[in-house]
Amino acid sequence: MLGPEDLKLSAIDCKNGEEVDFLYQFIFDHHSTPKNLLPTKEELNSPSLFFFRAVLDEKLIGMSSYYKVTPFLAETQKTIVLPEFRGKGFGKKISSLMEDLIKNRGFKKIRSAIYIQNLKMLKIKLDQSYIIEGLLRDHDAPGLHEYSLGKILG
Ligand SMILES: CC(C)(COP(=O)(O)OP(=O)(O)OC[C@H]1O[C@@H](n2cnc3c(N)ncnc32)[C@H](O)[C@@H]1OP(=O)(O)O)[C@@H](O)C(=O)NCCC(=O)NCCS
Repeated sequence: MLGPEDLKLSAIDCKNGEEVDFLYQFIFDHHSTPKNLLPTKEELNSPSLFFFRAVLDEKLIGMSSYYKVTPFLAETQKTIVLPEFRGKGFGKKISSLMEDLIKNRGFKKIRSAIYIQNLKMLKIKLDQSYIIEGLLRDHDAPGLHEYSLGKILG
């Protein structure tokens, strides 16, 4: 039976309107960010943002993305596992696949801002040797606090 080890990332083409429509709706339906703070379709098309589907034998399991902050630093964002696949190790695998991809693209550091109440994602990142580098108070909006977690890619 297929499992997290068989998961693959496949790039989403944000120059394609249908792909952007899919992405926008997927994030809207499944991400934990309050709806009024989600990116617009125009923002999804930023040249510094890179989105990926997570697929298992062509079946959509989830997604992730990164933002090129500098040539040195990439920040992962919007990691999502579809509700029916949560708790089976897919979130952990997406996180490690994103790290490999970012390292292979030449970045030297990976970072992620995670809501302080998102214990699952915090556990995933800490288990993968990220370090909490700071508390971002009222980061997206009043009362929405995040931890910034980072890792130097050796
Ligand atoms: C966060 C998310 C991606 C995790 O995906 P997932 O596939 O369920 O995660 P995994 O099964 O790989 O791992 C979850 C880990 O958290 C642990 N966990 C679950 N509930 C927990 C809790 N309340 N406190 C601490 N750890 C918890 C699990 O035990 C597991 O760790 P383990 O494998 O070492 O036992 C998924 O829940 C999701 O899509 N959430 C909505 C979107 C979101 O919040 N994205 C993150 C934005 S930063």
